[in-house]
Amino acid sequence: MRSIPTFVLLALPLLDWYVVFGYGIRKGPETNQDISYTTHYITQKVDHFGFANDNTYKQRYLLNDQHWRPGSPIFFYTGNEGAIDWFCNNTGIMWEWAPSFNAMLIFAEHRYYGESLPYGNKSFDSPNHLNYLTSEQALADFVSLIADVKQRMPATSKSPVVAFGGSYGGMLAAWLRMKYPSAVVGAFAASAPIWEFGDLVPLGGFAVVTTKSYASANPNCPIIIRRSWSVMDQLASSVEGREFLASALGLCNPVKSSAEVKSWLSSTWINLAMANYPYKANFLEPLPAWPVKAICSHLSDINLDHKELVHAVRHAVDVYYNYTGSASCYKTSESATGNLGDQGWDIQSCTEMVMPMSNDGVNDMFEPSPWNMTAVTEDCQKKFKLTPRPDWIIRQYGGRNISAHSNIIFSNGLLDPWSAGGVMQSISESLVAIVIADGAHHVDLRSSHPDDPISVQMARKKEKAIIAHWLGYQPKSLKATVGRNVL
Ligand SMILES: *[C@@H]1O[C@H](CO)[C@@H](O)[C@H](O)[C@H]1NC(C)=O
Ligand SMILES: *[C@@H]1O[C@H](CO)[C@@H](O)[C@H](O)[C@H]1NC(C)=O
Ligand SMILES: *[C@@H]1O[C@H](CO)[C@@H](O)[C@H](O)[C@H]1NC(C)=O
Ligand SMILES: *[C@@H]1O[C@H](CO)[C@@H](O)[C@H](O)[C@H]1NC(C)=O
Ligand SMILES: *[C@@H]1O[C@H](CO)[C@@H](O)[C@H](O)[C@H]1NC(C)=O
Repeated sequence: MRSIPTFVLLALPLLDWYVVFGYGIRKGPETNQDISYTTHYITQKVDHFGFANDNTYKQRYLLNDQHWRPGSPIFFYTGNEGAIDWFCNNTGIMWEWAPSFNAMLIFAEHRYYGESLPYGNKSFDSPNHLNYLTSEQALADFVSLIADVKQRMPATSKSPVVAFGGSYGGMLAAWLRMKYPSAVVGAFAASAPIWEFGDLVPLGGFAVVTTKSYASANPNCPIIIRRSWSVMDQLASSVEGREFLASALGLCNPVKSSAEVKSWLSSTWINLAMANYPYKANFLEPLPAWPVKAICSHLSDINLDHKELVHAVRHAVDVYYNYTGSASCYKTSESATGNLGDQGWDIQSCTEMVMPMSNDGVNDMFEPSPWNMTAVTEDCQKKFKLTPRPDWIIRQYGGRNISAHSNIIFSNGLLDPWSAGGVMQSISESLVAIVIADGAHHVDLRSSHPDDPISVQMARKKEKAIIAHWLGYQPKSLKATVGRNVL
């Protein structure tokens, strides 16, 4: 594993948008589940969709069957852009619900991440080797893994499988149900921005939601952040100003231009919005409860002069990067984590996962930054010799027209920037949107916590009841089987 608290990074090839897409945080202090699993490997075809390439690779998956009984369900986590053990440890709700359903838990690693590398340490060295890093191949891995488990463990052959996933993993869970409805009875897709493609949602939505999160913590906060950009430009225009910026912000490196500082700060504000959980937790960095509020308590006075404003920004940044008091200085190259870790997502966002976004600086607190597909394409060709296909995901997975599908929960938190690309209204009786007023990025997949707001508690109750319904439990029999905490 990486040295910094594990994370998942979505580095959009878009100017200064380096956004952490991923998973919330480590096991919180209140989480008492015993996470114990066995590690397994399945031999997968590198190319599920052709017959010319016979290469295989070993896909890792983790399994826990301590609560499982023959015929009872399998909860299957569709791994996303990171090593699977981390998702396993950080999807507390599956562990919490397993006893109620006597569920077996399987966490499947996504190809090209963690240990599941189709061409070992050469997986990223050429377009030929990268060719098999697609969501379609990943879904085919998942469905093959399910079939393999059922074959090798006959007692599971009748077990219904429920897909779980958060973020990109949530997209995969939903798409697995859509594409392979015979393999999974339903999918719980938490904070899955399946519509953050093409023109399915407004390009500015992500930035607007982020800004709203800050405004709801303190109405002056986004105003000050918006003002900070031009203040930094002005300061960075002189040697003396650049020196001031570096020292006032506690940077390790000298400031060469305002761009790097601004980019670092915007990523920081975005990551904070995603990690805006109601309790003290360890996201990319350890954070206090409701960290956006904590940040904004330093950004509330709109009458500051330039230098005072920079000092205020520093206090805010301290909350994010130095909550534990162990940072000696800050690196603008390490906005999220200090370690970019897996490179897979950079590749994916240069092929299929093109999520267009823009800022206008009016409806949001960021600097204006239009979406420029030409620039993105050139960048991808330069970095990876790959040309994005921005329309493909919509064709492949149906865009907004997914009403023919069934049994998917789309949950989104209104505090989460990614909710802008999510399904926010139920599409049918069985394509259910659950909107969590006080929720950041897939907070509902995390273990429950005494400080969870009512909206989060209600969401989990509803999600659990819907899954029970897919599995054919009558409310009564579920109660009888599983005891008090259901429905
Ligand atoms: C996951 O949890 C197990 C058991 O508690 C632990 O041994 C392992 O180091 C954890 N892995 C990560 C990535 O957190
Ligand atoms: C790649 O893997 C091979 C075989 O496992 C090993 O011999 C080689 O040293 C590795 N190369 C690098 C650059 O890590
Ligand atoms: C982090 O906090 C510690 C303890 O308060 C302090 O000594 C240190 O200078 C801080 N680091 C930065 C970069 O502000
Ligand atoms: C988009 O990017 C291309 C390539 O970098 C550049 O030539 C073009 O001027 C940009 N378009 C706009 C509208 O900024
Ligand atoms: C959506 O898909 C259904 C079939 O799944 C089709 O009947 C309907 O015409 C489509 N609607 C639109 C607006 O494309």
